[in-house]
Amino acid sequence: MTVGADAHPGTRTTEASREAGRRRTFAVISHPDAGKSTMTEALALHARVITEAGAVHGKAGRRGVVSDWMDMEKARGISITSAALQFTYQDTVVNLLDTPGHADFSEDTYRVLAAVDAAVMLLDAAKGLEPQTLKLFEVCRYRQIPIITFVNKWDRPGREALELTDELADRLGLHPMPLTWPVGIAGEFAGVLDRRSGDYIRYTRTAGGATAAAEEHLDADAAFAEKGETWTTTVEESELLSAAGHDYDNEAFLAGKATPVLFGSAVLNFGVKQLLDLLLELAPPPTSRPDVKGEPRPLDSPFSGFVFKVQAGMDTAHRDRLAFLRVCSGVFERGMVVTHASTGRPFATKYAQAVFGRDRSTIDRAFPGDVVGLVNASSLRVGDTLYADEPVEYPAIPSFAPEHFAVVRSADAGRYKQFRRGIEQLEQEGVVQVLRSDLRGEQAPVLAVVGPMQFEVAEHRMGSEFSAPVRMERLDYQLARAIDPVDVPQLVGESRVEVLVRTDGEHLALFTDKWRLASIQRSHPDLVLRPLLASDE
Ligand code: G4P
Repeated sequence: MTVGADAHPGTRTTEASREAGRRRTFAVISHPDAGKSTMTEALALHARVITEAGAVHGKAGRRGVVSDWMDMEKARGISITSAALQFTYQDTVVNLLDTPGHADFSEDTYRVLAAVDAAVMLLDAAKGLEPQTLKLFEVCRYRQIPIITFVNKWDRPGREALELTDELADRLGLHPMPLTWPVGIAGEFAGVLDRRSGDYIRYTRTAGGATAAAEEHLDADAAFAEKGETWTTTVEESELLSAAGHDYDNEAFLAGKATPVLFGSAVLNFGVKQLLDLLLELAPPPTSRPDVKGEPRPLDSPFSGFVFKVQAGMDTAHRDRLAFLRVCSGVFERGMVVTHASTGRPFATKYAQAVFGRDRSTIDRAFPGDVVGLVNASSLRVGDTLYADEPVEYPAIPSFAPEHFAVVRSADAGRYKQFRRGIEQLEQEGVVQVLRSDLRGEQAPVLAVVGPMQFEVAEHRMGSEFSAPVRMERLDYQLARAIDPVDVPQLVGESRVEVLVRTDGEHLALFTDKWRLASIQRSHPDLVLRPLLASDE
């Protein structure tokens, strides 16, 4: 007999934690070109979401599923938008959240990372840690997200395995715990030693990597018979790693202090299965999320979730506004009317969708760890909480320290209303931060961003989406610090510094450079200037 969930509310609640237990929600972080899109394809391929590599990536020459939602994006060949890919692998539901590939959008990535339980850090075997990897790693560290490291492109000549793992320790302070160790040098990639079982995992190339690569597990004797001295060297290196304390430690991984490391090749599908297996085995499932007061909301509480991304105009076929929500507790059922915590108003979820690039499908039910796309979510902002029955509010997602500033004005005085609406919307989506001051006036707000490409997005969208063309004038500031309103008078009359108020009420002092900041601090020793989050100073 099928028991209706409505008739037995109790059966729903346990369902939430049971379903949460079989979910893994993660993102891949990497420097552009390290192979994130290829890896996403390869993961989906193993889970049989797609039957042929190429269905995920939006770059030229491949079948585009990840949306190229703006002309600008297409022209540059980069993916600005985030999407969520869901697939089932060995009875586990895997939610892979996409992150923008360009450093200028690291604030977007940061928001996505607020919604995951683990991250895969992808490194290019020839390049190791690159600037964007470092920046994103800092965000993971700040949020204490457990990280699995995948050294990609091992099929090509690259650096030594030991050198790469040492770099993790030396530059990130992240203790490496290799779970596989390559047999042979980068470029001569035939397989890995599975350090936990002692087996040799042998890979066989398939044409173009288009189908999941064949892999066989050989015991040590068979491995020696096949690889001879190369195998002996691999085993010796692995023993040295063990002696130096590089064996797996689950607690250190979950605390974000140590990282399991795998070697592979996304394009050949080598090591991708190990990565998926590892995500299932080691990555934490969703757990009860602390609310704004720090009290965890149990998974079995009524539905709740928070918005980590708001996006408009993702696709010309669907010109609407979409809010991506991560479910944190309870069961989401399409059509339920929930409460928007910041306004106390009801929010109807009739149009809930799973969104992956241009593909949209209706979601009927979702569980902790899942991502729901809410259509026409004009009242929702990044960080907002939605809940059913028992009120809860999750902590706001902090903004990054902006590093670029520009005054924006309507290019057409007759379209001031559209101008205001457009700026307000871009701010709500988190495309830009908006700062104002009495001195500059309401008609000339200052846009503040982490990466200058955000200005281009804002300018483009103001013209094309809101029919409110703008003029932007870059300002000469590079640094922002938070300042208490009572301290603001201390800066009156100082040159090369300006105080503006962000829409959330935070007062920001902008400085032309770090020397100016230092000199202001010297001349006003009592002035408290608080650094903002996670800029890479
Ligand atoms: P991204 O999303 O991180 O920016 O990287 P993407 O997957 O687009 O990969 C960047 C380039 O690296 C691509 O080559 C891709 O084929 C290649 N690549 C990814 N993984 C591997 C790997 O394991 N081994 C090798 N040898 N190459 C890899 P491209 O020439 O820029 O594009 P394409 O024409 O091959 O698609």
